[in-house]
Amino acid sequence: MPRTDEETRQRLLRATTQRVESLGRAGVTHLKKPPAAESCEAPPAPANTATHTGTSPLEILRGEVECCTLCEPLAEARTQTVFGTGNPNARLCFLGEAPGAEEDRQGEPFVGRSGQLLTKIIEACTLSRDEIFILNVLKCRPPGNRNPLPEEVTNCRKFLDRQLAAIQPEFLCCLGAVAAQTLLETTTPIGRMRGKFFDYRGIRTMCTYHPAYLLRNPAAKKECWEDMQMLMREMGLIAPK
Ligand code: URA
Repeated sequence: MPRTDEETRQRLLRATTQRVESLGRAGVTHLKKPPAAESCEAPPAPANTATHTGTSPLEILRGEVECCTLCEPLAEARTQTVFGTGNPNARLCFLGEAPGAEEDRQGEPFVGRSGQLLTKIIEACTLSRDEIFILNVLKCRPPGNRNPLPEEVTNCRKFLDRQLAAIQPEFLCCLGAVAAQTLLETTTPIGRMRGKFFDYRGIRTMCTYHPAYLLRNPAAKKECWEDMQMLMREMGLIAPK
């Protein structure tokens, strides 16, 4: 559907506000006026960019994500991108599928009903959302919460891999089949991937059920808790069996 001028104005305003807020979080207090032709493009990233600009690799990446329009329909429909949230030096990352309606509205992953359950799971592991990092395979909401399309996954993959390279977590927990199968490039059902560790680029990676699945199938919470205890043991948070 074509946008009205007012919709375009609102969208640009949201994108700009999101960018300024994320720069503020990264400690940037002043911006240089860009040359006239400069637009929302990925900034050039020489090896010393972070030192040069005072912006971390993760914040530079956040800026690139905010400007991304590779999946045109998703970029058109989004309220904002959902980059991920938490400790940039986290030992543990949780990987979900894609933002839903509430995440698209708030710009944060896992803030809806399944997010509340994820928070409980994290806290049951004696951790907090501030200690870990939460991210998704897709950074934009797919319409009607449908599964990500293969082309969308491919477009977003470089962001995911660069996020993991920047954070360098020791552990990664994939939530649900889409996250697990996408990351590990397999079609194995989630029920057969859970309960063990994989290696993804040197990260101890495990998979468990998505919180949204657990809300629909509470009986599966027992297995999820077994997975979390396996993770806690591996992280040294509880004693070995
Ligand atoms: N489900 C996901 O996979 N990710 C979110 O951010 C929210 C719900």
